Amino acid sequence: MPVQPTVAVIVVAAGSGTRLGRPEPKAFAPLAGRPILAHALDRVFGMSEPAQVIVVAPASHHAVGAELATSIAGAAAEYVTVVNGGASRQASVAAGLAALWPSVDTVLVHDAARALTPSEQFDLVVRRVTESRGGVTPALPVTDTIKRVGPDVADVADAAGSVGAGAAGAVDVTDAAVRGTVDRSELVAVQTPQGFPRAALLDAYATAAEEYTDDAALFAAAGGPVRTVAGAADAFKITTPWDLRRAEQELAPDAAPHGVRTGLGIDVHAFDAATPLWLGGVHWPGEPGLAGHSDGDALSHAICDALLGAAGLGDIGSRFGTADPQFENARGDVFLTATVALLRDAGFSIGNVAVQVIANHPKLGPRRHEVEAHLSAIVGAPVSVAATTSDHLGFTGRGEGIAAIATALVQQAT
Ligand code: CTP
Ligand code: MG
Repeated sequence: MPVQPTVAVIVVAAGSGTRLGRPEPKAFAPLAGRPILAHALDRVFGMSEPAQVIVVAPASHHAVGAELATSIAGAAAEYVTVVNGGASRQASVAAGLAALWPSVDTVLVHDAARALTPSEQFDLVVRRVTESRGGVTPALPVTDTIKRVGPDVADVADAAGSVGAGAAGAVDVTDAAVRGTVDRSELVAVQTPQGFPRAALLDAYATAAEEYTDDAALFAAAGGPVRTVAGAADAFKITTPWDLRRAEQELAPDAAPHGVRTGLGIDVHAFDAATPLWLGGVHWPGEPGLAGHSDGDALSHAICDALLGAAGLGDIGSRFGTADPQFENARGDVFLTATVALLRDAGFSIGNVAVQVIANHPKLGPRRHEVEAHLSAIVGAPVSVAATTSDHLGFTGRGEGIAAIATALVQQAT
């Protein structure tokens, strides 16, 4: 064996994750784009001293687990061991224990599901095991008030012919009888990694006669002393979809919600006094119209380009070509309705649209709310409209035409 670490970390990752409800085993479910296990291993390999890292994976994911662990380990790849898990967490830990190298005298057992546990928590547990030569678990104070509950006494008597807590099995917490309040001053919530002297942990596992929910309980049942060290809020266990969202949030607190995209659209049309003006999908009597293959509604067209761009669906020219007779003299509403349908079919919902018209006339202000209501109804999301002149500069300043600039926010369904 090329390396001889004195510490091993068994990372149990062989559970199915029933409560998370994902198709893949929990440790391989994506968290911010990478498997939960990858995040856990990042932090294991951030420990200050090198340790044997034993990844306990589901048999179906042995190869992918091995690849992941060696790539994250980098130069420390020779410290990695991968074994198949068992039917229970305890069986998975036992499988990990069987793979310990002879040089190891301190064993940490860690849930892959506690993916954001900081490296310092591992170092702290190692230090404390070395000092105390007993079991060590990170712990946090309990902040909720804790109640003891049970089934209604009458139900139990009916169901089992006897009276007493537990006689009817697991309690339905949605409708249970409260039996009392537990004094939380002597309670803590424990986390992983839990650390132990190797020989004492192997002895405890060899004599364990029942399933325990953590290694500290199994170790204590065999008579081993266990002490606490300060746990970390980040070391929470990812159990439910809500926990996964919390972890995503911790990793990227400022990230936009998944699949949110923006788009920008600009359109320009020259005035043509011989045609009526349609702008923002409404008619403007007495105003010179706009030239174009369609009705020249620059405002609506800019919105179409912003939406298509946000969704990565091209632009108005490539989608509704001038060669298509269907769009000859077509109103802005026609393009907008077709654009909204394209986005919907591609799985996008529209957050909002903002558009600004740059022109000397018409005066948008008096009819702004009417235009906004009209466009919002077609788009199915808020459309806000603003207008400005360009201080007599450029083609808009000289009154030769109208420009419109739009932005759109869309979200892709997950
Ligand atoms: N674990 C394991 N082998 C098992 C069961 C659990 O290695 N047979 C691991 C899980 O992968 C997890 C840790 O033990 O990292 C804690 O278990 P838990 O959070 O309960 O995970 P699951 O058992 O996978 O989830 P669930 O109980 O919702 O099915
Ligand atoms: Mg479980």
